[in-house]
Amino acid sequence: MLKDKIAVVTGGSRGIGKAIVMELVRAGASVVFTYLKSDEAALKLSDEAKELGGKAEAVKSDSRQYAQAKSVVDETIKRFGRLDILVNNAGIIKDKALMLMEPSDWQEVIETNLTGYFNMSKACIVGMMKQKSGNIINISSVAGVVGTPRQTNYASAKAGIVGLTKSLAKEVASFNIRVNAVAPGYIETDMTRDLKKKDELLKLVPCGRLGKPEEVAKVVAFLAGDESGYITGQVIKIDGGLAI
Ligand SMILES: NC(=O)c1ccc[n+]([C@@H]2O[C@H](COP(=O)([O-])OP(=O)(O)OC[C@H]3O[C@@H](n4cnc5c(N)ncnc54)[C@H](OP(=O)(O)O)[C@@H]3O)[C@@H](O)[C@H]2O)c1
Repeated sequence: MLKDKIAVVTGGSRGIGKAIVMELVRAGASVVFTYLKSDEAALKLSDEAKELGGKAEAVKSDSRQYAQAKSVVDETIKRFGRLDILVNNAGIIKDKALMLMEPSDWQEVIETNLTGYFNMSKACIVGMMKQKSGNIINISSVAGVVGTPRQTNYASAKAGIVGLTKSLAKEVASFNIRVNAVAPGYIETDMTRDLKKKDELLKLVPCGRLGKPEEVAKVVAFLAGDESGYITGQVIKIDGGLAI
């Protein structure tokens, strides 16, 4: 249960982030979530949370920009008095073979999927250290663990998240702050909608199907709660066996 907990989720308007927002709300947390463009989807999600009797407030904010990340954290603390849980989820792909990858494709993916996670973590860490409790959950990917062709930019960012997670976990454990990551495989969202050769890829998944956003969200909620109190610095794969 996450009753009375305050959470920030980046990239909550769609896909895995949306499922995480709803799962945390169902568990009793009040949630602030960010997004970049999807105004309509964000408003709809806030309404859905309200219908459940919960709170999910949308903030249009670019996690690539440190000032914007800091403002989301500061405003959340001003509004709710504290911040207990940060879920770094906002991500993009720009898949190309390395020989065709433009420096801008590299830069954009690293800035969103890795620098954004640094920005949000830095913005909230001092507050969590002062309150002597906190919980950060980073959404990595199996791409960052085993590598994927045409995703050198994305896999590098996702592997970077693994390093960020393990290093920060060791750095702040004595302040009662836990830092973990999940590494999803192929999950059914907009990001995988146009995946090329989907049938061939599914043959590599022992479970034989795509995962559901809710299946990631359940693990994130577990990591966010006290039931996982002795788990830190871990990277939990949620991939139907893809990376066994
Ligand atoms: N789907 C998969 O198979 C899979 C597998 C492994 C890992 N992941 C990871 O899981 C996370 C979520 O993926 P998804 O499939 O749910 O993606 P998605 O459906 O494309 O949703 C991405 C979310 O991130 C937001 N976003 C993008 N750039 C942002 C920025 N600069 N600042 C704030 N928000 C931003 C988007 O906002 P807008 O709606 O406003 O654009 C949207 O809410 C990502 O980190 C992804 O790498 C996904």
